[in-house]
Amino acid sequence: MKRNISLLGLQWGDEGKGKVVDNLAKDLDAAVRYQGGHNAGHTLIVNGKKIVFHLLPSAICHENIKCFIGRGVVVSLDALFSEIKEAEEVLGEIKGRLRISSACSLIQPYHIQLDQLREQSNNLTKIGTTGRGIGTSYEDRVGRRSIRIADLYNEEKLRDKLYQALEFYNSIFKNSFGAPQIDLQELLDKNLKQAEDLKPYVGNVIEEIRELQDQDKKILFEGAQGALLDISLGTYPYVTSSNLIGGVSSGVGISPSDIDYTIGITKAYTTRVGEGPFPTELFDEMGTYLAEKGGEVGATTGRPRRCGWLDGFLLNNMVKVSGVNGLCLTKIDVLDGLEKIKICTDYSSAQTKEAIIETMDIEDAVPLYLELDGWSEPTAGKTDYDDLNANAKAFIEKIEEISGVPVIMISTGPKREDTIIRKKI
Ligand code: GDP
Ligand code: IMO
Ligand code: MG
Repeated sequence: MKRNISLLGLQWGDEGKGKVVDNLAKDLDAAVRYQGGHNAGHTLIVNGKKIVFHLLPSAICHENIKCFIGRGVVVSLDALFSEIKEAEEVLGEIKGRLRISSACSLIQPYHIQLDQLREQSNNLTKIGTTGRGIGTSYEDRVGRRSIRIADLYNEEKLRDKLYQALEFYNSIFKNSFGAPQIDLQELLDKNLKQAEDLKPYVGNVIEEIRELQDQDKKILFEGAQGALLDISLGTYPYVTSSNLIGGVSSGVGISPSDIDYTIGITKAYTTRVGEGPFPTELFDEMGTYLAEKGGEVGATTGRPRRCGWLDGFLLNNMVKVSGVNGLCLTKIDVLDGLEKIKICTDYSSAQTKEAIIETMDIEDAVPLYLELDGWSEPTAGKTDYDDLNANAKAFIEKIEEISGVPVIMISTGPKREDTIIRKKI
């Protein structure tokens, strides 16, 4: 029996993680977010109602599940409180079952302001971020000057840290951007007020997770974003600022060897929000078709998602570096009715494959495609593998061959029950 399960997206995010977590949640005792912040947007359709989570684990929808936000997450208290309020309107009180690590770094208003100013300027640092202050907060974390949640409860230390932060950020705002200054006292008062509201949620996540592990409880570690956005192994510099791959250990405080099983999620095609190379991107009517049929609009920023064919070259590599044991294939229903479907199996490039894998520089990669026959009988809403058309099965089996791991789950629609389970873990 697999008790510590890690789940992560293998593309550039939005693979359908929220939906898949919601489907798996009935068998879980706890769920943990370990990296990223409210740049994530995870959509669930529950009883016909759409819910989008940004910072909270998607499994919080299920009232018997304990939820955690680990130290690897950067937390905006404004975003957290507004999300808790929204969630409680649907789910009732969640206070008793949400714990946030006191070691999380905060996202302060100056992080958000700088992220947005950089994005508005036309220099090299512009990559199409979500403008949520994610990268700027992680910069402070790596620079050893973050304000962590625990600091909120020591007024003198908090004032000193905010003072130093504002000396730095206000001078950048004034000198580099001619932008408004942030007032120390106002920000301090806001932090202190939010600290009180946050108190019931702050806890010792490491200790509580250990207790759950000792009791043999089932825990899901929910990755946000996707492996190709990993700060170290993704398509740098067009990435987010956290470690998804391997980040579960440092982002929670468990051992890497605790993870019993890793589920990787891939769409049956590819999407990307923001800038950066995308070899299989489609600029023709097929791209528009996938975007429309797949409803490919960003769940956080509302930006249209760029669409293209499945990239098997990248998938194979991301499966290997992430230690994926089994795949979940989502949105196969979006391909229903297409005459031909393409999968990129390799690149033609001036660089060697090894060099591409090392740097993830895919700017000049030209995809080489395998063309498969489509299927006219819909996969949409199917719950049994045996009910799929032979061509849909051939597509799934080709993905297993290319990725080197079994497809254990197939998502055939946005609703919790639109799911085929091939292997229960
Ligand atoms: P996440 O960030 O990985 O959780 O994914 P998003 O929620 O940002 O985007 C996935 C979108 O696809 C959401 O609108 C989901 O409701 C929808 N979705 C998820 N799985 C499926 C599926 O199998 N088929 C279809 N048609 N839609 C799906
Ligand atoms: P989920 O969890 C898709 C992208 C942004 C941008 C880059 C850096 O819903 O899959 P950031 O604000 O993180 O500094 O932006 O990363 N990005 C995502 N794209 N899904 C996400 O999350 C994303 N989170 C960040 O569009 O290209
Ligand atoms: Mg998303």
